[in-house]
Amino acid sequence: DRQGFAHFMLKEIYEQPEVVRRCLATYLKPDWNSDRDAALPATPFNLAFPEALFAVAEIQIVACGTSRHAGLVAQYWLEQLAGIPTRVRSASEFVSAPFPLTTNTLTIAVTQSGETADTLAAIEVAKKRRSQSDVSLQSWSLGITNQPDSSLTKAVDYTLPTLAGAEVGVAATKTFMAQLVVFCCLALAFAVRRRVLSPQQLVDTIAALRLLPDQIETTLKQQHEPIQTVAQTFTDVKDCIVLGRGMNRAIALEGALKLKETTYIHAEGYAGGEFMHGPIALLDAKVLVIAIAPAGNVYDQMLANAQKAKTNGAPLIGITNVTESSDRAVFDHQITVPAIDELLSPFLTVTPLQLLAYAIAVQRGLDVDRPRNITKTLIH
Ligand code: BG6
Repeated sequence: DRQGFAHFMLKEIYEQPEVVRRCLATYLKPDWNSDRDAALPATPFNLAFPEALFAVAEIQIVACGTSRHAGLVAQYWLEQLAGIPTRVRSASEFVSAPFPLTTNTLTIAVTQSGETADTLAAIEVAKKRRSQSDVSLQSWSLGITNQPDSSLTKAVDYTLPTLAGAEVGVAATKTFMAQLVVFCCLALAFAVRRRVLSPQQLVDTIAALRLLPDQIETTLKQQHEPIQTVAQTFTDVKDCIVLGRGMNRAIALEGALKLKETTYIHAEGYAGGEFMHGPIALLDAKVLVIAIAPAGNVYDQMLANAQKAKTNGAPLIGITNVTESSDRAVFDHQITVPAIDELLSPFLTVTPLQLLAYAIAVQRGLDVDRPRNITKTLIH
């Protein structure tokens, strides 16, 4: 039932505030109250892992498509926040080129459906290699999935469900958002156990997480119309480059994937700095550039990249929460999201890209919920 929405994809984009609320209600202890930190429990997270697992030396993530992009955001959180070396590999690549065997390793497989053959094969390869190893390697496997009764769950030691409810649209939206919430709680839980996060940072981050559902709602309300207008302007664009830095590089990849999947526009995501080393030669007045530029450490560099793209003639859309008038002049179109700590910005920068892909696909008269050539593994 589309519940009055024109398509499942739009309905599922609009369900995201509720999905985040549900995931936080599950993974955050309700009695954790940042206003009375004296009485805080040891950890604010409901994650029942053995103590040794929190001491892992390395995390390896395998996934495909959108789920892999969630893994790339997580890599940033796990490395920069929790200080754990983390690698991400496409499940299909991992099968023929697995990571070297290491001890004290957590392997995480991420899949919305829990049935993606490449991801299941990767988990099997990881398990087999460990069981055949001469030395006993301490290791764990964890599945993050929207289908807790799936094949993935049977293959791993632990499962964290994403609780997004059934996703019908082939292009993943709300399950990606739910994967981000689970990964963020996981990275924070590691950071707390490893004592690399100050109590104040933790209190602030939990408080910020709890604001997310309302902030996503605000983004949806305020940006729906402006994004329709932008979509009309760029309905016929053939090429699009999405730029992001840091965590938002993964969102650039995800935004480009949403555009490819639903609009068939040739879209590519790049790290802003890396784009300067060659790919910038692509730009002219026909190539649309979308810059993800939330306030924070990489804002100035991102703006410089955007400015460079504009100098090369490209029309420029900015997704930002910086509203100074001098900066606004850089972007031909500005999509404004609520102010948020840079660390959590992917939660807010992804939604405008989902809405934009949806709106352009509809303008183009395409079957948004069932794009050509791709399928969704729903329930096995
Ligand atoms: C692909 C889909 O086949 O599978 C992508 O086209 C999807 O949209 C990917 O992200 C991974 O799916 P899952 O179920 O493993 O998350």
